[in-house]
Formats: sequence, structure tokens, C-alpha cells
Amino acid sequence: MSDAARAAASVGLTFDRLTIEGGKPLEGTVDVRGAKNLVTKAMVASLLSEDVSVLRDVPDLSDVRVVRGLLEIHGVIVEEGAQPGELRLDTRNVRRAHVREIDAHAGSSRIPILFCGPLLHQLGEAFIPDLGGCRIGDRPIDFHLDALRKFGAIVEKLPAGIRLSAPNGLHGAHIHLPYPSVGATEQVLLTATRAEGTTELRNAAIEPEIMDLIAILQKMGAIISVEPNRVILIEGVKELRGYTHRAIFDRNEAASWASAALATRGNVFVKGAVQEHMMTFLNVFRKVGGEFDVLEDGIRFWHPGGALKPVVIETDVHPGFMTDWQQPLIVALTQADGVSTVHETVYENRFGFTDALLKMGADIRVHPRGFAAPNRRVPRRELEQAAVITGPTPLHGADIVVPDLRGGFSHLIAALTAEGQSTVRNVGIISRGYENFGDKLKALGARFSVEG
Ligand code: EPU
Repeated sequence: MSDAARAAASVGLTFDRLTIEGGKPLEGTVDVRGAKNLVTKAMVASLLSEDVSVLRDVPDLSDVRVVRGLLEIHGVIVEEGAQPGELRLDTRNVRRAHVREIDAHAGSSRIPILFCGPLLHQLGEAFIPDLGGCRIGDRPIDFHLDALRKFGAIVEKLPAGIRLSAPNGLHGAHIHLPYPSVGATEQVLLTATRAEGTTELRNAAIEPEIMDLIAILQKMGAIISVEPNRVILIEGVKELRGYTHRAIFDRNEAASWASAALATRGNVFVKGAVQEHMMTFLNVFRKVGGEFDVLEDGIRFWHPGGALKPVVIETDVHPGFMTDWQQPLIVALTQADGVSTVHETVYENRFGFTDALLKMGADIRVHPRGFAAPNRRVPRRELEQAAVITGPTPLHGADIVVPDLRGGFSHLIAALTAEGQSTVRNVGIISRGYENFGDKLKALGARFSVEG
């Protein structure tokens, strides 16, 4: 079964192909719930206690299903709570899983790597299957493994995955990340909270989802202080208890719908979006010529009419412009009057989705090694790429295949923006990060039909 089909099947998505009749503005309201990139980690954090945790606002995503499955094979009882989107995680009987069961989850998500610390604390050993996730670059795990070794873990690479043990327990460490990696910062947090002694993490990622994970760990009894200059100090504690927490909203989903409103010349109220965590995106949205209104329960995004303006963007770690935001926004930039440049500095292969846009009439030139430009804010990285988008170009319908999660959503936006009919295949991947996207599109007045 393909990754897309597996993802789709896990959330009951019955179609893999959308035929979209474009050229109609998206108008209406969409709800966003908890962030994929927090919820999955919060579920792993529950493993650090022998107790019951309650997580609210959990979206029904295939990545959430994968993590749920991995927790269940380790003896965690996961149940739906009283409210929609509430998960109850009972970790009172955590046990070893069979390699065969773990293997069944190979290649389906990148979250399993975060099970290392919690499993080492609970069981003294861990086995992590081969990882999956979007193919947007090499996505190595060297920072994770180096950090785990510093805590005292023994790491053994096997053909089917990675085996870890900690015969002498885990102890606090001094860790300086070569890059403020989101996943490696989470790895350190999840391992250090119960390690013996103090951990000092330098060059940490400070994304809002990480701050929310720290809030959860603090509720569980951890002692974590976020210091200036990307330094995080963690004083290890012997035991942690369960938590009750409402997940931070999904700012990537919110930015995606905002970009869809802009590209289709529409007007979308994103219920649940919070200004504080989207300020960098909002600045760029305004510079491009989009309008927004911050309300108490969400943000309204719309195209005010007239021409959009080109921009220069460099993706970066927080508080910079997120890499996950560039793909949906680029579709709107194909409609701007002039030349826009997007420097992608986080991943080395995140412009693959633009091939489909070219097919639909866009003028985008990808520079696979990036290029130096005056007044750059972000120091140039070896792996960076750049895309130069010249607009406005009318888009026309085409037959396109979704390559990855955010690229897939961009394909939906492009098809909705284009004149005529498009067939978007492999849409199962989109269910990894966008809950009920078919129903949401329908609620916004999109014209489409579905096929299996
Ligand atoms: N990196 C290494 N070695 C490591 C870890 C990372 O070289 O051991 C490099 C990566 O190759 C990349 C950079 O560091 O060039 C940043 O990677 P990071 O670890 O920050 O990313 P991640 O934790 O794997 C999360 C999100 C991504 C999001 C990035 C950046 C999750 C599950 N994924 O990935 O989300 O783009 O942070 O904010 O939280 C998505 O939602 O579509 C998605 C890809």
C-alpha cells in the first residue's frame, strides 16, 4: 500500500483523487484544531508518567493515528474522551512491544524517534523502526542520536531500525545543537526531564509548539526554564504525573487556508487562529497585499481586490517565516504583479511541488543550490534552494500528483485558483496534516468531485 493510501485509510478517507473545477473564490469559515506538530509529541510525553493524561483539541489526522498505534502496542490505553477531539491516555501499564508490531509502523511517520527517551526511562530500552515523513530532504537523525548518547544511551543501528539501551540509566548532559532543530529539541526535552541531574541545551528551537510541549511537561512536574539566546535548562526529576491540556492551534493549517483565500481571491474566517503565533506570516500576508482582521475567536483573511505585490522571503526557524508556510503561499505569489523570491533555508528539497504549478502555467524557476542575495537575514546554508516566481500568470487546469503534505495542499490551492478542471491525485497524503479537508473545502464553496 502506498504511503498516501495508508494515511488515507487510517482516517477513513475513501478517496484518493479530487477533480476540482477552479476559478471560484473560497468563502466561509473553517475551524482549526490542535497542531499536528504538538499533538503527536504531547501524546509521546504521556509515556513519561505512569498515570492518565487528557489531551484536548486533537485533530483526526493519520499522523495522530500512527502515534496512537505505537503507544497502544507499548501497553498504553488510548480512548476518546467525553468531548470531541479529547484523548485519554492511560500509561499505567507500559510494556515492551514485539519488534514485529513496531515494524508494522515503519516508514509511516517521523514521530517514533521521539519515543527513545520516554521508553528508555520506562523500560530501559527502546526499538525505533525506520522513519517516514514527507520526502522534502534527507531528514537525518544525527542530532537526535548524538544527544541520546550524551545522556548515556547506547545506540545500535540495525537493518530494521535502531535499538537503544541505557544499562546505567540516563543522566543530564550539556548539548549544543548544530542547528535549532525542532525534533532534536523535543528529543532533549523528553529525555532530560527524567534524567538524573541538570541538562543544558544550547541553540534550541523555540517554536510555539515547543513552548506548548514545555507547558505540558511543567504540568507533569518537570522543571524547565527557557533562558535568553536559545538556551533551555532542565532539572531532572524522578517521577512525572499525567497532564490535562488543550493543544495549541495549528498555525500551519491556518496559514494554508489564509493562502488559499488569497490565491482564489476569496474570504475565509479561520476560527481558532491566534495572532501571537502567526505574526511573521501576517506581516508577509499584508506585504503581498492580503487583508486580515484579528477577531477574538480567529482571524479573517481576504483578497481585497486589485493586484497582489511580489515579496522576498527567507524561511527560517521561529520567529522567522516557517518553511511549512512557503508552499501554500507560493501559489498566491504566482498571481502577484512582479518577481517574488523564496529562499528555502530549512530543507534541501521543498520545491518539488512547483513542477505541477509549471504544468498549470506558472512561471517559477528553482535554483537548486540557492543564490546569494544582498540584505539576506538568514545566514546561507549549504542545503538551501531558491524559487523565483514571476507573476501574474493565469493558471489552467491540469492532472497533477501530490508529492508531500504541504506541497499537496498547495496543489489543491492551485487547482482551486486555476480556470477549468484539474485532477489532483494521491490526496491521501494531505490527511497526514489537514483534518477533514474535503468537508472544509465543501464548506468554503469549492466545486469538486471525489474518486477512490
Ligand atoms: N536536521 C539534521 N539532523 C537532525 C535533525 C534535523 O540535520 O538530526 C536538519 C534537517 O535535515 C533540516 C533541519 O535540521 O534541514 C530542520 O529539521 P527539524 O529537526 O527542525 O525538523 P523536524 O523536527 O523533522 C518539524 C516538523 C516539520 C517542520 C519542521 C521545521 C514535525 C513532525 N515536523 O520537523 O513539519 O517543517 O519541524 O519547523 O513536527 C510538516 O508539518 O509538514 C513538516 C514537515
